Amino acid sequence: MEISRWILPIFIMGCVFNFGQNESAAQAPATNHNLMPVPAVSRFNSGRLAVTPSFTIAVKGYSDARLLGAIDRMARRLEARTGLTFARGLRGDAAASTLVIQSQTPGKAIPAVDEDESYSLEVSNSQATLNAPTVVGALRGLETFLQLLSGDKEGYYIPAASIQDRPRFPWRGLMIDVGRHWQPMEVIKRNLDGMAAVKLNVLHLHLTEDQGFRIESKKYPKLHQLGSDGNYYTQDEMREIIEYARMRGIRVVPEFDMPGHTTSWFVSHPELASGPGPYQIERRWGIFGPVMDPTNEQLYKLLDGFIGEMAAIFPDAYLHIGGDEVEAKEWKESPRIQAFIQARGLKDNHGLQAYFNQRLSKILTKHGKKMIGWDEILHPDLPKDIVVQSWRGQKSLAEAAKKGYAGILSNGYYLDLIEPTWRHYLNDPIPENTTLTPEEQKLILGGEATMWSEWVSPETIDSRIWPRTAAIAERFWSPREVRDVGDMYRRLAVVSVQLEDAGLLHKKNPPAMLRRWAGGAALGAEVKPLVAIVEPVKGYRRGSLQKATQFTPLTRLADIAQPDSEQARNFAKDVDQYLYSPPSPNQTGQDTVSGALGRWKQLAAAMNRDIFPSNQPPPAAPPRPKDDQTVDVDMRAAIRSPLMNEEAAPLAKDMEDVSDIGLEAHGFLQSNKLPTEEWLNAKLARLIGAAKPKAAVELMIVQPVMELVIAAAEQEKRKTMSAEEWKKHVKSMAAKKMKQ
Ligand code: ACM
Repeated sequence: MEISRWILPIFIMGCVFNFGQNESAAQAPATNHNLMPVPAVSRFNSGRLAVTPSFTIAVKGYSDARLLGAIDRMARRLEARTGLTFARGLRGDAAASTLVIQSQTPGKAIPAVDEDESYSLEVSNSQATLNAPTVVGALRGLETFLQLLSGDKEGYYIPAASIQDRPRFPWRGLMIDVGRHWQPMEVIKRNLDGMAAVKLNVLHLHLTEDQGFRIESKKYPKLHQLGSDGNYYTQDEMREIIEYARMRGIRVVPEFDMPGHTTSWFVSHPELASGPGPYQIERRWGIFGPVMDPTNEQLYKLLDGFIGEMAAIFPDAYLHIGGDEVEAKEWKESPRIQAFIQARGLKDNHGLQAYFNQRLSKILTKHGKKMIGWDEILHPDLPKDIVVQSWRGQKSLAEAAKKGYAGILSNGYYLDLIEPTWRHYLNDPIPENTTLTPEEQKLILGGEATMWSEWVSPETIDSRIWPRTAAIAERFWSPREVRDVGDMYRRLAVVSVQLEDAGLLHKKNPPAMLRRWAGGAALGAEVKPLVAIVEPVKGYRRGSLQKATQFTPLTRLADIAQPDSEQARNFAKDVDQYLYSPPSPNQTGQDTVSGALGRWKQLAAAMNRDIFPSNQPPPAAPPRPKDDQTVDVDMRAAIRSPLMNEEAAPLAKDMEDVSDIGLEAHGFLQSNKLPTEEWLNAKLARLIGAAKPKAAVELMIVQPVMELVIAAAEQEKRKTMSAEEWKKHVKSMAAKKMKQ
């Protein structure tokens, strides 16, 4: 069986399912600031620099348009947050300025992987000074300065501090797949602003896919004309994106995925394919048969021309050739291709892919580019200056490093799998228990979060990328010991709001989508408490629950629901505290558990009464007469939003029942009474039903309630078990039930 992106992460997620939020021995203490990423070294002093209307900025030393642009953006965001108006322009007198910026050099003319991004920031009562060897370092420091802004009853201020900062890894990226779902310029630009805010430095654009060829080629114009539905970046637009990124100290690495994932190329150039064609733009999701024909000399001629053309647009040293998930069906079925493999002694299909990559490698070298590709490109015949991007895991990355190849990690940072932030956060490109030597560790350049776009539109993409990517950015920038999950979530909530003034729509769009789905603001408000505790299904499950193509609108509950529900996460934490922590005199866990359940039960009961008539018990009294002039609330949802009714009614019923079961279980635990066998069986059956996804979302409070029920039934065992055993016992029983 071919290992594919579609199945591998499910295995991996299975393996880490029970991986708790472990505290590491060498963990840095929680912070007393809101910075994300946490700086390498920071010390906070007493004192504060007031931010007032007389706030001024001076530049000493080297200055250029990039530095001035960043200063202006920072000042405008500072004004927006404080409501203050600052004097325009820079101040000549550095000694009298509030913020003094001194960078020594412009940094690399073309953003590069070995850029010096370090800076230091000293804030006293009278002045802040930002020093950096390069303009890029100064840009990073300006973002830190902005994140330091605090306020209290005396006004806005920057706390006195001394910060010396530099990144742990030089390659800190975000990949956006613009092939499957087209993402226009404004999406890319606002995400570049978000990236800059958290010090990411590589935008990797996945530009060609089975479902779309997204860049203009003047040499082979039919590629984008026939392969994109008109949705592609012109060369001028791409240059604009690259310059926008450069101004923010961000590299742009283009990916042209080859030899698989290439259906869109073949719409105009079927002669490049291994099969007979004809081909059409693929509209479905998955791994498809069409692959390039590595035995065809015409292919290399076109690639030479195309890559030469792209090399002139993209200044970065690296060009990504994809190389993943090559479905070899067309190769296997072609006697001509199999004969080629035999004649050249290439052994098998992977040997043929390596042959293709070697040819490609020569073309890249000719055009001054170094190769980066997914794990599958790894082959002893390739030159040592390539970079391997691992979607298969740390092990695969470590193996590449042991063979002398540089690499970046993406496994564990797949945003489309809808995993909770803490899991991405604790996933380290070089984990503490690494078997790599210090020399080999230097080959791990960093990592990239990946936004595959089967299930994202321009409207939803920000909320899939952010805020989780801010935590991933911290993993790539901050020291490894910075891994306190609670502290990360505390700071992430602050940074998530700040990312809005960088232009991101991750918090703005979902409420608007909710109102559209609900058919109005009032109904949206009533259903919001339900939406707040559901999450889209994880992994690649949505594709098996909802059939969709490139044309399917992504406006359903699973698109409105957010990953990593804060309310559900906090509830699970409270249940953990209540069930497994030795009681302490001022324990508050039990109140928050029953408090939350009581509130949810009430809210769900109101929804079921007012909005979802199908959830009402059959009326005891005859229905209201038709001429009743009161608003017929029972019919509001059915009339105004059949979509919401279909998707949310079963979930609202689950929410009410699950909350009720949780309250009953809590009651048993509080009174040290055992539930009857009958009660237990009935409630478990109900919870198992509620654990099944509906409308491709999961009700996230089911698992903790399952633990409450099991704990209630098993409470006798608590007396004979250690705290650790008790927790393991209840959690493993609950996990088993959840899977039934
Ligand atoms: C991949 O996920 N196939 C790179």
